[in-house]
Amino acid sequence: MDFSLTEEQELIQQAARDFAQNDLLPGVIERDEKQLFPKEEVRKMGELGFLGMMVDPKYGGSGLDTVSYVLVMEELSKIDASSSVIVSVNNSLVCWGLETFGTEAQKEKYLSKLATGEIIGAFCLSEPEAGSDATSQKTTAIDKGDHYVLNGTKNWITNGNSADFYFVIAQTDKEKKHRGINALIVDKNMDGFEIGPKENKLGIRGSDTHSLIFNDVKVPKENRIGEDGFGFKFAMKTLAGGRIGIAAQALGIAAGAYELALKYSQERKAFGTEICNHQAIAFKLADMHTQIEAARHMVYKAAWDKDNGKDYDLSGAMAKLYASQIAMETTVEAVQVHGGNGFVKEYHVERLMRDAKITQIYEGTSEIQKIVISRSILD
Ligand code: CAA
Repeated sequence: MDFSLTEEQELIQQAARDFAQNDLLPGVIERDEKQLFPKEEVRKMGELGFLGMMVDPKYGGSGLDTVSYVLVMEELSKIDASSSVIVSVNNSLVCWGLETFGTEAQKEKYLSKLATGEIIGAFCLSEPEAGSDATSQKTTAIDKGDHYVLNGTKNWITNGNSADFYFVIAQTDKEKKHRGINALIVDKNMDGFEIGPKENKLGIRGSDTHSLIFNDVKVPKENRIGEDGFGFKFAMKTLAGGRIGIAAQALGIAAGAYELALKYSQERKAFGTEICNHQAIAFKLADMHTQIEAARHMVYKAAWDKDNGKDYDLSGAMAKLYASQIAMETTVEAVQVHGGNGFVKEYHVERLMRDAKITQIYEGTSEIQKIVISRSILD
């Protein structure tokens, strides 16, 4: 076993750390408060190659491995989880899905723009009644020969308004249940496509989350991903990798909160000494550090599985389940270590605590991860 990172992985990790400190940190509180999308920061992340990290360089990507990608996700998420979810969705759900399952024509048209951040993408699966129960799609894509007609509503879509490229999952043949579902590429400017209201969220407030409405949107057949009826499998396979990205985000949120708590505990004095010298605080730090290290091993292992052609459904689900749980626990404890200051925005930990919650919900709730894990071990 070799737990060391390569020189290239260390360099990319450092680049992400520097970018997070220099570019994400300065405006992060204001973006959170005002729900501002990090437009300029996303442009810079595109320049740095963070938006198409695993995409083949022939399509404008960085050609890096999944381990490098999770290292970047971890570093960005320590500072700004709103920005890192944009990176996660664009890399794992959009670029990976398109590169792996798209036609050459689809890749030529969209992939290099997505990989460089010229445009960003969104992944539209969830509906009012089909979040966890993803086979129950109500959005329809009716086959009209050379095109589909798309009707319905999608909910809680990350990059909802800022994307130009949308993967939309919809039911073509109800009789065939999940085998009658298709994934279609929808351009923002297609007639009948409307961006719904923006959600006012607890956390990741800089990421723009919208509902999307499709009213008789005519989507050419060449925009379908894979064979007729491949849409649900496409969504599941894509989400399996997406879960590694969100696990890395959860890890980063936890690690960011821990680093702040550690530093604060070494500066803040109570009862005549720095509070880290009190066992009540020292033991909290010990627990946080141990949990984060365990989560880190799980996240890196899932990424390694993907890079080495091994099955990563199980390791990715376990990594997401555990990392999101410890993100929640660690951020709550980091607020506690900060005492009254933890409740104040300037100290950042309250935002990390709010941001942590979504990692237990999106790209499959913790309960869904347990379904995936238990089915995998029982099969
Ligand atoms: N890879 C390939 N195929 C898979 C698969 C996988 N990982 N998981 C399931 N499938 C296939 C099954 O083989 C089956 O196909 P066949 O019948 O042809 O064999 C088909 O999919 C249906 O599978 P199930 O019978 O297991 O379906 P189910 O109804 O029991 O649901 C589930 C399975 C795991 C619960 C699934 O519905 C699920 O993952 N739900 C959660 C969806 C989710 O993650 N939503 C998040 C929204 S996206 C998001 O959050 C993005 C964002 O913006 C951040």
